[in-house]
Amino acid sequence: MKDLAFEIIGDILIIRNDSDENSLKSFAEEKIQKHSFIKTVLLQTTKIHGQERKRNLRYVMGKNKSETIHKEHGNSFLVDLSEVFFSPRLSYERQRITNLIEENEIILNFFSGVGPFSIALASKCNSCVVHSIEINKIAYDYLLKNIKLNKCQEKVIPYFGDAFEIVPKMFINSVNRVLLPLPLDSDNALPIAYQTLKDGRGVIHWQITERISSKEIREEIIIDRINSVPHSHNFSMSYTITEMRLIRWLGPKIAHIAVDLSFKALE
Ligand SMILES: C[S@@+](CC[C@H](N)C(=O)[O-])C[C@H]1O[C@@H](n2cnc3c(N)ncnc32)[C@H](O)[C@@H]1O
Repeated sequence: MKDLAFEIIGDILIIRNDSDENSLKSFAEEKIQKHSFIKTVLLQTTKIHGQERKRNLRYVMGKNKSETIHKEHGNSFLVDLSEVFFSPRLSYERQRITNLIEENEIILNFFSGVGPFSIALASKCNSCVVHSIEINKIAYDYLLKNIKLNKCQEKVIPYFGDAFEIVPKMFINSVNRVLLPLPLDSDNALPIAYQTLKDGRGVIHWQITERISSKEIREEIIIDRINSVPHSHNFSMSYTITEMRLIRWLGPKIAHIAVDLSFKALE
């Protein structure tokens, strides 16, 4: 049997590389027999694409559906995998940020999707509020459902729309921590995110993709990248890089990287 790349989200297994129909079917059958919790096998037929970061899926075996509930660190996330972005591979990153937050923080998530980062943070902090923006209406509707499912109504505040329009109107000089979990747009978002920090102090969790040659990430690469962001001169003197971590490889030498930028107001 061919060894195919796959991921499991809830009770759905997604095969990630195409193959002939017989190989797909025998792979699916073997996985369903081995793991009785798998109810559906789908084939990913495109890369994750577009602003909404969706992928095309095709039915292979089991129950014909694309909606599932994925459990992660005590939270449950209802998702339709053909309509929204969701990746269990970001689970460690969610836990890492969760371990950094402190009581009473006001947090702003520019790109919340169905809510995994926002809900993970809210469920670990009783006195925090996580403002959570999402532009894909279907993902926003799942965000609303997941807020209820995880009983976070008091702590996760959802907004439907474009973060680049909502944030300048509502969040300037008002938050302690910002999440930018969309490498595609996070360079453009960085200067606006900086303006939302209360009194110029706080933390921005920046996600980028960058060409690197080894898993050791050099600070100069990140500094050069920040300097290339338009308007970075407005904040370039006031940050410290407190974390740089390889989340995953997206292709040969193309890395998805998490960078934590800690800002202190200039005297
Ligand atoms: C890479 S996904 C991450 C979602 C979520 N943070 C997660 O980890 O599952 C990025 C999300 O940002 C949304 N998005 C893209 N551009 C946006 C914008 N300008 N304003 C608000 N949301 C946006 C997409 O629809 C998508 O759901």
